[in-house]
Amino acid sequence: MKSPFSAKDQPADTKAEDALAQEAEVELTRSEKLAKHSKKAAHHGAEGGKDLAGWVDTRTNSSGIFTAMMSRHVPKGTNWFYTLGSATMFIFAMQAITGVFLAMYYTPSATQAYASITHLTNEVFLGEFVRGLHKWGASLMIILIFLHMARTFFFGAYKYPRELNWVIGVVLLVLTMVMGLTGYLLPFDQRSFWATIVANNITASGPVVGPYLADFLRAGPDFSATTLSRFYALHMLVVPGLMAALIGAHLFLVVKLGTTAPPWVRMARPKHARPTETVAAGVATADVADVPVADERAEETEAPAEDESDSGEQASS
Ligand code: HEM
Repeated sequence: MKSPFSAKDQPADTKAEDALAQEAEVELTRSEKLAKHSKKAAHHGAEGGKDLAGWVDTRTNSSGIFTAMMSRHVPKGTNWFYTLGSATMFIFAMQAITGVFLAMYYTPSATQAYASITHLTNEVFLGEFVRGLHKWGASLMIILIFLHMARTFFFGAYKYPRELNWVIGVVLLVLTMVMGLTGYLLPFDQRSFWATIVANNITASGPVVGPYLADFLRAGPDFSATTLSRFYALHMLVVPGLMAALIGAHLFLVVKLGTTAPPWVRMARPKHARPTETVAAGVATADVADVPVADERAEETEAPAEDESDSGEQASS
């Protein structure tokens, strides 16, 4: 809206009114632009691919999250041992994918389970291959998870401030083993049947919670057809769901806290950067060299991924 007066001649309240009107005009143009944009995005499906990515990104900042995950700084000295966590995650994804295909042919019934597995192995196209991937993947995941745990242990990555990630890791380890136990029964052949009975009896002999846990797994006082349904539900839904959520939390903490530098890089820090008398109370003298000095800890909590205080220098991943 144009005023017939020059700004200089206008009384103060008219000026304010004009400013408001101008603002409203700008607002209108913006909302008009937005409406036009979304109309275009809705009608032009082909260009929509790019538009859609932008649309989702504006609302989720997914590109920021992706950049934080993929272009984060990693400490100097990072080596192949640091790939063990990702390798475990890759196998988890592979188990999920092959498991979906197996579930398309598997019948979780005491009378039909074995027959459905035999059919899958002998008659379904690539059935034996997919089953083999899933079976070998299960063993490989156990090996990789232990190697990854050993890496984090021997590199001291369980220490402050990553204790929670270690605890999440321990839960993931237990859940991975539960996946192995519950999956083993599913073919319902002689070997899996008797091996699971033995495993269940061992569980029952555990202190305090053992008998209750065994009862829960058996789905009653005796090993029966319902035991198979219980193992199937745990193997297909409960445990993988929990694991996916925990892996998400695990990775979030890895990105947030950064990765621990190898011990020899930490030890090679200049002498003045090593803790002396400013070490937190309660830390044994033997551990002193590994504990960040007080001001380093503060930095680590403020901007850990950027700063990577216990690494000294950094390289980009
Ligand atoms: C499904 C199982 C697991 C997956 C998918 C997984 C995945 C990962 C990934 C991708 C990383 C970052 C890269 C690396 O350091 O290798 C990581 C770091 C870490 N993981 Fe795991 N992990 C699993 C189990 C465990 C277990 C069993 C533990 C220990 C009990 C553990 C403890 C840690 C710790 C402490 C870190 C931080 C390492 C550092 O700061 O250098 N994780 N994990």
